[in-house]
Amino acid sequence: MISIALIWGVVVALCSILWLALGIRRRQLGEPPVENGFIPYLGCALQFGANPLQFLRSRQKKHGHIFTCKIAGQYIHFLCDPFSYHSVIRQGRHLDWMKFHFATSAKAFGHDSFDPRHGHTTENLHHTFLKTLQGGALPSLIETMMGHLQDVLLKSDTLSHSKDQWQVDGIFAFCYKVMFESGYLTLFGKELGEDKSQARQSAQKALVLNALENFKEFDKIFPALVAGLPIHVFKSAYSARENLAKTMYAENLSKRQNMSDLISMRMILNDSLSTFNDVSKARTHVALLWASQANTLPATFWSLFYMIRSPDAMKAAQQEVQKVLEESGLTTNLRDSTLNLTRDQLDKLPIMDSIIKEAMRLSSASLNVRIAKENFLLQLDNQEAYHIRKDDVIALYPPLLHYDPEIYEDPYEYKFDRFLDNKGQEKNIFYRNGRRLRYFYMPFGSGVTKCPGRFFAVYEIKQFLTLMLSFFDMELLDPAARVPPLDQSRAGLGVLQPTYDVDFRYKLKADH
Ligand code: HEM
Repeated sequence: MISIALIWGVVVALCSILWLALGIRRRQLGEPPVENGFIPYLGCALQFGANPLQFLRSRQKKHGHIFTCKIAGQYIHFLCDPFSYHSVIRQGRHLDWMKFHFATSAKAFGHDSFDPRHGHTTENLHHTFLKTLQGGALPSLIETMMGHLQDVLLKSDTLSHSKDQWQVDGIFAFCYKVMFESGYLTLFGKELGEDKSQARQSAQKALVLNALENFKEFDKIFPALVAGLPIHVFKSAYSARENLAKTMYAENLSKRQNMSDLISMRMILNDSLSTFNDVSKARTHVALLWASQANTLPATFWSLFYMIRSPDAMKAAQQEVQKVLEESGLTTNLRDSTLNLTRDQLDKLPIMDSIIKEAMRLSSASLNVRIAKENFLLQLDNQEAYHIRKDDVIALYPPLLHYDPEIYEDPYEYKFDRFLDNKGQEKNIFYRNGRRLRYFYMPFGSGVTKCPGRFFAVYEIKQFLTLMLSFFDMELLDPAARVPPLDQSRAGLGVLQPTYDVDFRYKLKADH
């Protein structure tokens, strides 16, 4: 008995010595302070994961503008001084953005690598995204989305509504239903052909509802996939992802009409520039579905929730929408054909913009990541410089900005007009300690990895809110409902979800 305990004791002691010798980084001269954490491999992962903002703030207080933490085997340098962000974002020759992004996408969605250095494709993916999601691509995306939103909200049987009776639903559940269906159809088109029969419509509806269920099932384990766990551990999420992929084989997509350029271009470039097989091609579409929905859905929830919860915000937004509709000679009569607000008209809604921005300031938490291509010296704004080792990660965590009381007064409070200047137009000048900031709002990432869909995302949410305000009366079921806490399990990955849903009631306005 004693000898077994002795053997175990020796094994544990040897492992500890090995870990201390090999698993711990010692700070070299000129490097940022290091925190190895107490758990082998995981390092500080658990403390960081429990509450990233709190963890980083406490380390910032202890170490200053930059420090290094071991998280799940990786040494990450957290840069906390917003005035030094530029040295990471400007994308100098020492930093690589592709390695992390392409590896993460391939890991989560199971497609071959998009990194041209791996030899599966010669496509410049970044360029494709800019071409199909911005500039000239926007008007048609906006018009299609507006049509689908109105179908879903007012014409289809997705919602049950009547003029006389309030309907109760969770705001989160409501936003997911409406935005997923509209966004899905906007990107992937409809498989209807000439056949507009009831049966065909129902089949189309079932396809979208199925896609939503599969999306939710897969999305649940997304943080675990990014952390490096293999998808095969999660049987139902794996089948959900593959079910989505099945609907996105070329033979299925080619039956659809009104597909966005984003998807049709993806099909063409997958065929012409890559060596991907059919499964890999289908999975690239799943990746796009995820990118287009995973952040937009919770961002829509927070925008609607905060707007309804703040009577001043709702009133101001209502008046702003009314004014734009009147100026454009548009009416919101259900009998009329589709209400079509163009990009120019949507650009005249600064209050709505501020409502959305403020909601995302409070809920977004996307880690901005770059990888050191070589050993180099990182220059900070305060003239300090730090040695960074090859393959180390440098990260920016925007909630440190978004919740900084020196930048945003009462940072935990929702102020719908925070992003409006004294002329009622977009405010984009913010200061910290009397110095103007270049970076103060970063829910969409930064530099070369900034979300290419950001303009469309905001238009989508504005369209949704505009229609909700135009056609429905709405109120919280419990006017004193508290703000649900953020679910931190997705911290680092984008807009966080609420830990629970909040009920509201809605009914068609009496004059429709
Ligand atoms: C509120 C909504 C959205 C938020 C907060 C958001 C945020 C982000 C962020 C932070 C990234 C960069 C991730 C990184 O650095 O690794 C990103 C990438 C991306 N987003 Fe969005 N996004 C939103 C909506 C959309 C929409 C609607 C689309 C498309 C229709 C879209 C398409 C993409 C794509 C394709 C990428 C990858 C870009 C690349 O790898 O070059 N996003 N998004």
